[in-house]
Amino acid sequence: MADIVAETERLRLREWGEGDADRFYAIMNRASVMRWLGGVQTPEQWDAALQRILGFQRDHGHTFWLVERKKDGELLGFCGLKRVNSPGTDLTGQFEVGWRFREEAWGEGYAKEAAIQALDLAFGRFEAPHVLAFTVTGNEGSWGLMERLGMRRRQDLDFTDSRFGPDLNPTIVYRIDASEWPWARQQALRPR
Ligand SMILES: CC(C)(COP(=O)(O)OP(=O)(O)OC[C@H]1O[C@@H](n2cnc3c(N)ncnc32)[C@H](O)[C@@H]1OP(=O)(O)O)[C@@H](O)C(=O)NCCC(=O)NCCS
Repeated sequence: MADIVAETERLRLREWGEGDADRFYAIMNRASVMRWLGGVQTPEQWDAALQRILGFQRDHGHTFWLVERKKDGELLGFCGLKRVNSPGTDLTGQFEVGWRFREEAWGEGYAKEAAIQALDLAFGRFEAPHVLAFTVTGNEGSWGLMERLGMRRRQDLDFTDSRFGPDLNPTIVYRIDASEWPWARQQALRPR
């Protein structure tokens, strides 16, 4: 059984284990989910992405962990912490929070719940001085979540990612500092 990283009220974040990569690919590789991420992936592209995910865990002790719903064990997606490795920016190596959920699980607050946990881990266990998040202008769900978490838009850090065309550029950047998180966390937990 893969190690559990953390639990929230409804969710479990855990490390990747045997069989997870195939299951993840089967349920997550959909046009809707991948719309702002370069489109659906070939098995080779997914394998390369997976190796990066596993590499972050090995090298840094954190990665984009699997997110499961506690009540039925259903795999909902991933959320967690990596290090910046995008071409086109000198932010390389800094903490980056990210998320990807299956479409049936959108709009339930799961992404926010998992992301709050990921930021708790970033500023607690991993002692991050600050955390970045990247997306594109069209991905309103993703930058909406960044803003809901109290992350601040940093236009001065935006960059062009050479892996993508003009439809997926520029990469827009958000950031939150460790000192900002306690207050931002309280606000994020408040119902709307
Ligand atoms: C991005 C993604 C994780 C958001 O998931 P979600 O289920 O909408 O997220 P939640 O239900 O937890 O909502 C979290 C907050 O995001 C904000 N939000 C969500 N959708 C939004 C939208 N379309 N516009 C503005 N804000 C939005 C809301 O403020 C919401 O908080 P609230 O309900 O307390 O007000 C999901 O759409 C996804 O997995 N997309 C595909 C993969 C992807 O693009 N990942 C990001 C790559 S950068």
